[in-house]
Amino acid sequence: MQIFNQKKSFFFEINLLRLKKCVPLHSKLLVMIIAKTIKDLQTAISKSGAKSIGLVPTMGALHDGHISLVTRCVKECDLCVVSVFVNPTQFNDKGDLERYPRTPEADAALLEKNGCGIVFMPSVEEMYPQEDTRHFNFGKLEQVMEGPFRPGHFNGVAQIVSKLFYAVKPQKAYFGEKDFQQVAIIKDMVRQLQIPVEIIPCPIVREASGLAKSSRNTLLSDAERIKAVKISQVLKESVNLMESKSVKEVIEWVNNQFSDDSEFRMDYYSIVDGNTLQPIDNWNNNYIVGCIAIYLGKIRLIDNICYKK
Ligand code: PAJ
Repeated sequence: MQIFNQKKSFFFEINLLRLKKCVPLHSKLLVMIIAKTIKDLQTAISKSGAKSIGLVPTMGALHDGHISLVTRCVKECDLCVVSVFVNPTQFNDKGDLERYPRTPEADAALLEKNGCGIVFMPSVEEMYPQEDTRHFNFGKLEQVMEGPFRPGHFNGVAQIVSKLFYAVKPQKAYFGEKDFQQVAIIKDMVRQLQIPVEIIPCPIVREASGLAKSSRNTLLSDAERIKAVKISQVLKESVNLMESKSVKEVIEWVNNQFSDDSEFRMDYYSIVDGNTLQPIDNWNNNYIVGCIAIYLGKIRLIDNICYKK
């Protein structure tokens, strides 16, 4: 039997070693398999004998935010599958794709330590043997916030996540609320495509300073990283203004906090209904979230805060 692909890579060596030792596949045994093709992935899943499968899709450069999803998945499912794939179709900015941090060895080590059963690290050719021409329509969900600023982004996310769902067939899939709009888009995609998977949103993990953990934080200079703390501070403070200010005034106030520092460049600050993602003009809705996208130097950061739930 040949489970893994033939490339003599770091991963192949590790997997070969495990194969020789006949180590059983099971996420809770802290023994992890690295698959690089869909065929190997599916063989490893069926060999695991797991009854419930959870998937955590990622683009790697893993940090505690990703690991919180993995930990929850390991706890709730027999087998935790994590995908690590920098998906080219969701990058509308080529420079961003090139700059995106890639740390596969460190990712594999961290995942193994945290109980992941199978890590799927495919090549671009494996996931896109031919151009994916599918065009999703997410209506109003994609016409706000990230949508207009990152044309094609959510279409690319839907392309890759649907391919991952078809390949892994998980019962549950875990996504971070850090990417608030992404969760809504994925839920809508699953409904449109009738994929039988439960989407589990997980809370934002922050550094002690309050900065939302992000793979892109590693691209910030030390000075920028200190400055970036202001983003979460401003969002948190803005919640206290709900009593005294209108929605419009809070949006203005948040914008003003960054306007005198030329290193910050705001894409948007939106206060929206947490379910529909549509902007609101008063505080009457039951579920209200504020979402920000802002450049600090060359790096675009996003964060959000819940005003009401
Ligand atoms: P990536 O940015 O690697 O994020 C993978 C998952 O980790 C996402 O669900 C994201 O919301 C979550 N995450 C990131 N930072 C987090 C934090 N600080 N706290 C909690 N969760 C956090 O999102 C993507 O990749 C891609 O778009 C993907 C869904 C993998 C499709 O390519």
